[in-house]
Amino acid sequence: MCEFDDFPQPGRKRIVVPAAVGQLGTDLPDFETDALKQLSSGAVLMMGDNSALPKMPAAPTLHDFFRHRLLLLGATGRHLLISAQKALEAGLDEDVVLAVLLHDISLPCLVRTDHGYWGAQMIAPYVSEKVAWAVQYHQALRYFADEPNGYPYPENYNRFFGPDYMPPEYIRRDAEFARAHRWYMASRQVTIFDTYLFDKGPLPDLEMFDDIIGRHFKTPKEGLGFDGSPVAHMWRTMIWPNNFL
Ligand SMILES: [Fe+2]
Ligand SMILES: [Fe+2]
Repeated sequence: MCEFDDFPQPGRKRIVVPAAVGQLGTDLPDFETDALKQLSSGAVLMMGDNSALPKMPAAPTLHDFFRHRLLLLGATGRHLLISAQKALEAGLDEDVVLAVLLHDISLPCLVRTDHGYWGAQMIAPYVSEKVAWAVQYHQALRYFADEPNGYPYPENYNRFFGPDYMPPEYIRRDAEFARAHRWYMASRQVTIFDTYLFDKGPLPDLEMFDDIIGRHFKTPKEGLGFDGSPVAHMWRTMIWPNNFL
């Protein structure tokens, strides 16, 4: 008996075709064409749990997504915990701490481009309108300094994008809209506590946010991805990121 027999498509080579959105415009190989060629030798295209990833429970919570997905790859999961820890220690309102904890949730396992908008959309059914709003607009506000409130233009953005980078019109428009909004400071606080990915130090304990998550994040009883909400597919995509379809 094979150790992977309790995974779908047992006994066959399962091929992963990485998501197209990260490949367009790169010199990565054409995974789809290569994969289809291998079908004649009995391989199949992956569907369902990938044995290379921790199995998610049937009704996953936000904690499960942090533990089994967001913290697996790269630095962003860690960045979320460190940023939120600093916001908590600074005594920010609980809802703003939650916005800091979730502000880049789209980055590690879903999609990078327009991450503030994706992130806001995927959490919107489960948090207050203000929390989702703060997450959405942090993306645009990051490009615009607000020195009186303690937010200089990020030096790292000069290195990331070049010192002459100018964000596109929709970002400038959304930043201007956010600036005049009554929830501006919630989103601005997200940018202020948006520490950099290279933060050193021990990984904060996710449990330190249990109370805040319990009070401000409405976990569906069916689990994230299975509640039939308009964003359930976004969470399922993180559970099964390698599904061919
Ligand atoms: Fe961000
Ligand atoms: Fe961030």
